[in-house]
Amino acid sequence: MKILAISGSARRLSTNTALLKAMQVIAPTGIVIDVFDGIGNLPVFSPDLEGSDEPLVVRIFKQAISESDGLVISSPEYVRSIPGGLKNAIDWLVSGNELIGKAIALVHASHRGDEMLNMLRTVAFDGKFQFQ
Ligand SMILES: Cc1cc2nc3c(=O)[nH]c(=O)nc-3n(C[C@H](O)[C@H](O)[C@H](O)COP(=O)(O)O)c2cc1C
Repeated sequence: MKILAISGSARRLSTNTALLKAMQVIAPTGIVIDVFDGIGNLPVFSPDLEGSDEPLVVRIFKQAISESDGLVISSPEYVRSIPGGLKNAIDWLVSGNELIGKAIALVHASHRGDEMLNMLRTVAFDGKFQFQ
Protein backbone atom coordinates (compact mmCIF):
# COMPACT_ATOMS: atom_id res chain seq x y z
CA MET A 1 0.00 0.00 0.00
CA LYS A 2 1.28 3.45 -0.96
CA ILE A 3 0.64 6.44 1.28
CA LEU A 4 1.47 10.01 0.34
CA ALA A 5 2.29 12.06 3.43
CA ILE A 6 1.82 15.79 2.82
CA SER A 7 3.36 18.33 5.15
CA GLY A 8 1.42 21.57 5.58
CA SER A 9 4.57 23.40 6.60
CA ALA A 10 7.15 24.86 4.25
CA ARG A 11 9.56 25.44 7.15
CA ARG A 12 13.00 23.85 6.74
CA LEU A 13 13.00 22.34 10.24
CA SER A 14 9.27 21.65 10.33
CA THR A 15 8.10 19.37 13.13
CA ASN A 16 5.19 18.27 10.94
CA THR A 17 7.54 17.18 8.17
CA ALA A 18 9.69 15.45 10.80
CA LEU A 19 6.62 13.61 12.12
CA LEU A 20 5.82 12.32 8.63
CA LYS A 21 9.43 11.25 8.08
CA ALA A 22 9.30 9.34 11.37
CA MET A 23 6.12 7.60 10.19
CA GLN A 24 7.97 6.72 6.99
CA VAL A 25 10.74 5.06 9.00
CA ILE A 26 8.45 3.04 11.29
CA ALA A 27 5.86 2.10 8.66
CA PRO A 28 4.97 -1.59 8.85
CA THR A 29 6.07 -3.96 6.12
CA GLY A 30 3.93 -3.55 3.04
CA ILE A 31 3.19 0.13 3.66
CA VAL A 32 5.34 2.59 1.74
CA ILE A 33 5.13 6.23 2.79
CA ASP A 34 6.38 8.98 0.48
CA VAL A 35 6.76 12.38 2.11
CA PHE A 36 5.76 15.45 0.10
CA ASP A 37 7.32 18.54 1.65
CA GLY A 38 7.14 20.74 -1.42
CA ILE A 39 4.00 22.84 -0.93
CA GLY A 40 6.28 25.89 -0.97
CA ASN A 41 7.20 25.08 -4.58
CA LEU A 42 3.64 25.14 -5.87
CA PRO A 43 2.70 28.39 -7.62
CA VAL A 44 -0.29 30.35 -6.38
CA PHE A 45 -3.38 28.67 -7.80
CA SER A 46 -5.28 30.29 -10.62
CA PRO A 47 -7.91 28.61 -12.80
CA ASP A 48 -6.05 30.21 -15.73
CA LEU A 49 -3.16 27.79 -15.10
CA GLU A 50 -5.27 24.63 -15.13
CA GLY A 51 -5.45 22.28 -18.11
CA SER A 52 -2.77 22.51 -20.78
CA ASP A 53 -1.02 25.40 -19.00
CA GLU A 54 -0.69 23.49 -15.72
CA PRO A 55 2.80 23.90 -14.22
CA LEU A 56 4.96 20.75 -14.12
CA VAL A 57 5.31 20.85 -10.30
CA VAL A 58 1.54 20.79 -9.99
CA ARG A 59 1.26 17.87 -12.40
CA ILE A 60 3.87 15.92 -10.41
CA PHE A 61 2.00 16.71 -7.16
CA LYS A 62 -1.33 15.53 -8.62
CA GLN A 63 0.30 12.41 -10.07
CA ALA A 64 1.75 11.50 -6.66
CA ILE A 65 -1.73 11.75 -5.15
CA SER A 66 -3.31 9.71 -7.94
CA GLU A 67 -0.75 6.95 -7.48
CA SER A 68 -1.31 6.74 -3.71
CA ASP A 69 -3.84 4.57 -1.92
CA GLY A 70 -4.35 7.15 0.79
CA LEU A 71 -2.99 10.36 2.28
CA VAL A 72 -1.71 11.57 5.60
CA ILE A 73 -1.70 15.34 6.04
CA SER A 74 0.28 16.79 8.91
CA SER A 75 0.00 20.53 9.29
CA PRO A 76 0.59 23.37 11.70
CA GLU A 77 -2.15 25.86 12.49
CA TYR A 78 -1.47 29.39 11.22
CA VAL A 79 -3.60 32.27 12.49
CA ARG A 80 -6.26 29.83 13.72
CA SER A 81 -6.57 28.33 10.25
CA ILE A 82 -5.00 26.25 7.47
CA PRO A 83 -1.56 27.59 6.46
CA GLY A 84 -1.74 29.44 3.15
CA GLY A 85 0.62 27.03 1.40
CA LEU A 86 -1.49 23.99 2.26
CA LYS A 87 -4.70 25.79 1.34
CA ASN A 88 -3.10 26.68 -2.01
CA ALA A 89 -2.18 23.01 -2.57
CA ILE A 90 -5.80 22.05 -1.85
CA ASP A 91 -7.05 24.71 -4.25
CA TRP A 92 -5.04 23.01 -7.04
CA LEU A 93 -6.97 19.78 -6.36
CA VAL A 94 -10.49 21.08 -6.17
CA SER A 95 -11.47 20.74 -9.85
CA GLY A 96 -9.73 17.38 -10.34
CA ASN A 97 -10.60 13.87 -9.23
CA GLU A 98 -7.31 12.90 -7.56
CA LEU A 99 -8.76 12.93 -4.04
CA ILE A 100 -12.19 11.48 -4.70
CA GLY A 101 -12.86 8.55 -2.39
CA LYS A 102 -9.31 8.56 -1.05
CA ALA A 103 -8.80 7.81 2.64
CA ILE A 104 -7.14 10.78 4.34
CA ALA A 105 -5.73 10.89 7.87
CA LEU A 106 -5.17 14.28 9.49
CA VAL A 107 -2.50 14.75 12.10
CA HIS A 108 -0.44 17.57 13.53
CA ALA A 109 2.79 17.65 15.46
CA SER A 110 1.67 20.20 18.02
CA HIS A 111 -0.68 19.88 21.00
CA ARG A 112 -2.57 22.81 19.45
CA GLY A 113 -4.15 23.20 16.04
CA ASP A 114 -7.67 21.87 16.41
CA GLU A 115 -9.16 24.87 14.62
CA MET A 116 -6.99 24.10 11.59
CA LEU A 117 -8.04 20.43 11.67
CA ASN A 118 -11.72 21.38 11.94
CA MET A 119 -11.34 23.80 9.09
CA LEU A 120 -9.69 21.16 6.93
CA ARG A 121 -12.58 18.79 7.65
CA THR A 122 -15.50 21.18 7.33
CA VAL A 123 -14.47 24.04 5.06
CA ALA A 124 -11.62 23.27 2.73
CA PHE A 125 -12.92 19.93 1.56
CA ASP A 126 -16.58 20.90 1.56
CA GLY A 127 -17.73 17.30 1.73
CA LYS A 128 -16.16 16.47 -1.64
CA PHE A 129 -13.41 14.32 -0.21
CA GLN A 130 -13.77 11.67 2.45
CA PHE A 131 -11.72 11.82 5.60
CA GLN A 132 -11.25 8.73 7.69
C1 LIG B 1 2.49 32.75 11.14
C2 LIG B 1 2.21 31.75 12.26
C3 LIG B 1 0.93 31.70 12.78
C4 LIG B 1 0.64 30.77 13.79
N1 LIG B 1 -0.63 30.70 14.27
C5 LIG B 1 -0.96 29.77 15.21
C6 LIG B 1 -2.30 29.63 15.68
O1 LIG B 1 -3.20 30.35 15.27
N2 LIG B 1 -2.56 28.67 16.59
C7 LIG B 1 -1.57 27.81 17.07
O2 LIG B 1 -1.87 26.95 17.88
N3 LIG B 1 -0.30 27.92 16.62
C8 LIG B 1 0.03 28.87 15.72
N4 LIG B 1 1.32 28.97 15.25
C9 LIG B 1 2.32 28.05 15.75
C10 LIG B 1 2.52 26.87 14.80
O3 LIG B 1 1.30 26.23 14.48
C11 LIG B 1 3.45 25.86 15.44
O4 LIG B 1 4.67 26.47 15.72
C12 LIG B 1 3.66 24.64 14.59
O5 LIG B 1 3.99 23.58 15.43
C13 LIG B 1 4.76 24.82 13.55
O6 LIG B 1 4.78 23.68 12.72
P1 LIG B 1 6.09 23.30 11.89
O7 LIG B 1 7.17 22.96 12.91
O8 LIG B 1 5.70 22.07 11.12
O9 LIG B 1 6.46 24.42 11.00
C14 LIG B 1 1.64 29.90 14.27
C15 LIG B 1 2.94 29.99 13.73
C16 LIG B 1 3.21 30.89 12.73
C17 LIG B 1 4.61 30.95 12.14
